[in-house]
Amino acid sequence: MVDFKEIRGEFPILNQEIHGHPLVYLDSAATSQKPNAVIDAEANFYRTINAGVHRGAHELAAARSTMAFEEARAKVAKLVGANAAEGEEEIVVTGGATAGLNLLATAFGNASLGRGGEAAKRFALKPGDEIVVSRAEHHSVLLPFQELAYRTGATFKWIDLTEDGRVRTDNLDEVITERTKVVAVTHVGNTTGAITNIAPIIKRAHEVGSIFILDACQSVPHLKVDFHALDVDFAAWSAHKMYGPTGVGFLYGKRELLEALPPANFGGSMVELAYMDHEAQYMAPPARFEAGTQPVAQVVAAGVAAEWMMNIGLENIEAHEKTIAAELLKLGDIDGIRILGPRENVDRIGTVAFDVAGVHPHDVGQFIDAQGIAIRVGHHCAQPVHRHFGLYASNRASSGVYNSVEDAQALVEAAKGIRKFFGVE
Ligand SMILES: Cc1ncc(COP(=O)(O)O)c(C=O)c1O
Repeated sequence: MVDFKEIRGEFPILNQEIHGHPLVYLDSAATSQKPNAVIDAEANFYRTINAGVHRGAHELAAARSTMAFEEARAKVAKLVGANAAEGEEEIVVTGGATAGLNLLATAFGNASLGRGGEAAKRFALKPGDEIVVSRAEHHSVLLPFQELAYRTGATFKWIDLTEDGRVRTDNLDEVITERTKVVAVTHVGNTTGAITNIAPIIKRAHEVGSIFILDACQSVPHLKVDFHALDVDFAAWSAHKMYGPTGVGFLYGKRELLEALPPANFGGSMVELAYMDHEAQYMAPPARFEAGTQPVAQVVAAGVAAEWMMNIGLENIEAHEKTIAAELLKLGDIDGIRILGPRENVDRIGTVAFDVAGVHPHDVGQFIDAQGIAIRVGHHCAQPVHRHFGLYASNRASSGVYNSVEDAQALVEAAKGIRKFFGVE
């Protein structure tokens, strides 16, 4: 039995009062808090190892730092079912999900310009080709791939949502066609909390020879994911949402695809041979995609976060957060409150966005904050999702491993007073 109360005790930040109330943190979809193990790993790296990786001959750089960095890559690979053996690595270090998704869109753009030779042609786009996303996307999927369409002349299309905000799968043959070259879809909606039924989307994408990209930002922290089993081609996510540090994230790519993909960022540590008068020869992946000095301390700490999650067990985390989701969904029973997303506690996570009739989300956020409860308000970088619900912004509560059912109950109790307080009841 996992003791989730004890786990909560590993998060020093939660041990404080806000406006005279014990802090209730329900904003993990924006960023998660960090356990001592992660905080210590980052600090200890600076105390004992600090050096760049894969360069220099001295012990700290050539051996200890490089080893810690590569061990972290292997732990992260294990978390998501990816290869980590030397020469077969499938995890690329990025600055976060946004950086990883932009890396892909830029690399595909470079392939479209003929860069990367014959092998990269599978990523090239031209007028008449199609890029498909869903309406559930965070702007960090929507915008890089929309821009890629503008740059290459490809047609930009999307899969729409059901009334309760799930990505539709009933018309995939119409949306994903023989002309589709890229499909990019979120695993879990950052507003609705809905888990996308990605299997038929991946199947259809592969049927027509398309690349499938998964935004795994909101799934990796909460669910057991296995990219090999899912058969995704690429996936991007951020460490700071999975109890790791800010400023770092990961891009998964099937090894044969990473080998064929041209680089997107150029500079030190990604080149084998560089000349003044002819083309450089780039390194094999993952180094080819890791130009410049890497955020080594953060990667090492992210590896510790991955290990920490695996020690708790992803199935346990998922089951625990399901109990919190059940409680948060009771927000929908309050008069004047509407949940944006599935009402039933099935194929969803503990991310629950809601609208309070007649009260602006920023007012809701302040009212809730005054009681020591942290939620997110705004459009959550997902404006098309909000338009789907006829809104510009909403309020969002989202769970993490440290939350208790009592945390969710505190929010529900507080929410009961919102409309009365603002005189709209
Ligand atoms: C579903 C989803 N995708 C992408 C992102 C972007 O992540 P980051 O800002 O860490 O790059 C987020 C973050 O909010 C997200 O929730």
